[in-house]
Amino acid sequence: MKLLITGGCGFIGSNFIYYILDKYPNYKIINLDALTYAGNLENLKKIENNPRHEFIKGDIGDKKLANKLVKDIDIIVHFAAESHVDRSILNSSDFIKTNINGTHILLEAAKDNGRKRFHHISTDEVFGSLEPNEPAFSESTSYDPHSPYSASKASSDHLVRAYFHTYNLPITISNCSNNYGPYQFPEKLMPLFITNLMEGKKVPIYGDGKNIRDWLYVEDHCQAIDKIIHNGKIGETYCVGGNSEKTNLEITHEILKIMGKKEDEIEYINDRLGHDKRYAIDFSKIKRELGWQPKISFKEGIEKTVEWYKNNQSWWKDIKSGEYKNYYKKQYGK
Ligand code: NAD
Ligand code: DAU
Repeated sequence: MKLLITGGCGFIGSNFIYYILDKYPNYKIINLDALTYAGNLENLKKIENNPRHEFIKGDIGDKKLANKLVKDIDIIVHFAAESHVDRSILNSSDFIKTNINGTHILLEAAKDNGRKRFHHISTDEVFGSLEPNEPAFSESTSYDPHSPYSASKASSDHLVRAYFHTYNLPITISNCSNNYGPYQFPEKLMPLFITNLMEGKKVPIYGDGKNIRDWLYVEDHCQAIDKIIHNGKIGETYCVGGNSEKTNLEITHEILKIMGKKEDEIEYINDRLGHDKRYAIDFSKIKRELGWQPKISFKEGIEKTVEWYKNNQSWWKDIKSGEYKNYYKKQYGK
């Protein structure tokens, strides 16, 4: 089998490439990635000489390139996106361009080249925000995106479903919760807090820190995608969650504890605009139909994650000393 993976130099995409190459000795991967600020070839250093992985630097919005690459593959697994909510609040243009227009171009290429199998990676943020007593999001929850990021992902989900209904394109979609683990860009909560503490900086909590997310270890997510691309029902959506609802303060305390740091490392700062209160996922459909459930406990996952950032300091120090400094200043004022 030959897979076209988009966004394979980002966090989840690179973890997925390692997972697939390791599990399926006959599979080949074409990895199309534009190497935006979030894409990093260092993530794939361990397979730089692996003949079963071919990296192509390019934009999913490049029609000619998309058509050329799609011709010769069996399935597209589409990760490429602008993925950070705070950046979408600062400027959403690239989110519209990549997440909506880029997905559209890939869908056209899939349709025009023999109706290729298409798996779209999406997010639980398309469902909006839950109150603490409301039931978790499931495949039947209505869409209600609140940020420019989640609105762009919701648009792409609608396009993907429209191509199934209109053109019979064999699609599946997964909407998952917050991933964490190795190679996550240090703008996201966990790697930002872990690396700030290693640098002797404070950890910036938005608002009161009581917002809740459901944490999914990235390897568990890769297993879920594996099940869906091989056994998922065409035209269907699957919600993928980590069974680990935690407030941001709980996460922070856990990180402080593992790293032997004290509560006074916390700095409460202005809340994120339109900050969603709570995300939670009911993953009973994928459990029932495909036999998937998360295997890695939150305790094990967060310990492995802290360990990885401790052991890979040059990886994140390179990122934090580059362009990222400008974003950090804009976002956190220092
Ligand atoms: P990421 O930001 O770490 O990586 C995104 C990758 O896409 C980068 O390598 C980047 O270079 C590439 N890219 C961006 N624009 C591109 C373009 N126009 N053409 C080609 N490549 C482009 O993202 P991630 O956290 O790995 O997320 C991957 C996917 O999973 C995204 O679609 C995101 O919406 C979704 N998702 C992420 C999470 C999470 O917790 N990280 C949760 C749910 C869903
Ligand atoms: O739910 C899935 C989504 O999870 C994905 O679709 C997104 O791509 C991914 O970025 C993530 O979005 P979040 O906004 O939930 O993740 P982030 O790590 O940015 O923030 C997690 C929580 O932590 C959120 O409530 C905001 C808070 N936070 C975040 C940062 C960066 C802080 O309190 N301080 C911070 O500095």
